[in-house]
Amino acid sequence: MENLNVCTTLESLRKRLKENGEDSSMALVPTMGALHHGHLELVKKAMSLANEVVVSIFVNPTQFNKKEDLDNYPRTLENDVRLLKTAGNIIVFAPTVNEVYPEYYNDVNLELGDLECVMEGKYRPGHFSGVVNVVKRLIEMVKPEYSLFGLKDFQQLAVINFMVKFYNMDTQVVPCEIVREPSGLASSSRNKRLSLQDKEDAVIIHETMILLVMMAKTFSPSEAKKKAIEFFNKGTLELEYLNIVHPETLMEIDTWVPGARSCLAAYCNNVRLIDNMELITSK
Ligand code: PAJ
Repeated sequence: MENLNVCTTLESLRKRLKENGEDSSMALVPTMGALHHGHLELVKKAMSLANEVVVSIFVNPTQFNKKEDLDNYPRTLENDVRLLKTAGNIIVFAPTVNEVYPEYYNDVNLELGDLECVMEGKYRPGHFSGVVNVVKRLIEMVKPEYSLFGLKDFQQLAVINFMVKFYNMDTQVVPCEIVREPSGLASSSRNKRLSLQDKEDAVIIHETMILLVMMAKTFSPSEAKKKAIEFFNKGTLELEYLNIVHPETLMEIDTWVPGARSCLAAYCNNVRLIDNMELITSK
């Protein structure tokens, strides 16, 4: 892997960072690889904020609650490195499991409260505990001034904001807008597992979100949710949840608030897809 100019150990990463001088600012973009346009937008934003950008590529086993999902996760390191090379002078950090979780590593068990009990937390037990552990570890290893995350994983962003605040971590969390394919389907590494037909079918996710935006002014959140689910179920995807939530607490709402979001998870031919959209502008 070294010939791809990838740092696989913390030691090689530190060496590489030192070469660039001590006082340059640095941004971290944590990823699990299988990079797509969504990831590249994060990288672009990172490059606009800092002189040095580290992209970590690590398929974190502890955040997968189904072994099959971990096994099926696409791993395309060579291609990822090539993509990043065309994006600019990026440092790729692709550590092994042992490097991230050495023998002496003790799991942290951050109490996430309600954040852990709804939506992704509810349907993927243990997922956010895995995310907290890996992101905390990566930030502590890399020590970035900025850490970039996508709004595509809205609940993950809320969890990370909470974690950074809780541990008083010295990094600025920078949220990035959701990048979509021309059809409206949110870019995702999992889209690689969709057939052309699946992709067509999956467009109903975006259509449902747009319908919700249009209904937000006319109907109450619960009426809008009911109508949106009826619309969604006309398609072929299997809905796991569709919630209209408060942007900070992520609790379902009875009355509209600025920043209210719809969050959705559904299976398209065994591939689990998530998406979300702001329904009422936050400003
Ligand atoms: P991964 O799914 O690879 O995503 C890495 C980052 O890219 C996350 O912050 C995610 O929100 C963002 N992202 C993915 N698709 C996006 C899109 N269409 N538009 C905007 N941003 C998008 O999320 C993870 O990995 C992991 O949980 C991780 C944070 C790396 C911890 O293992």
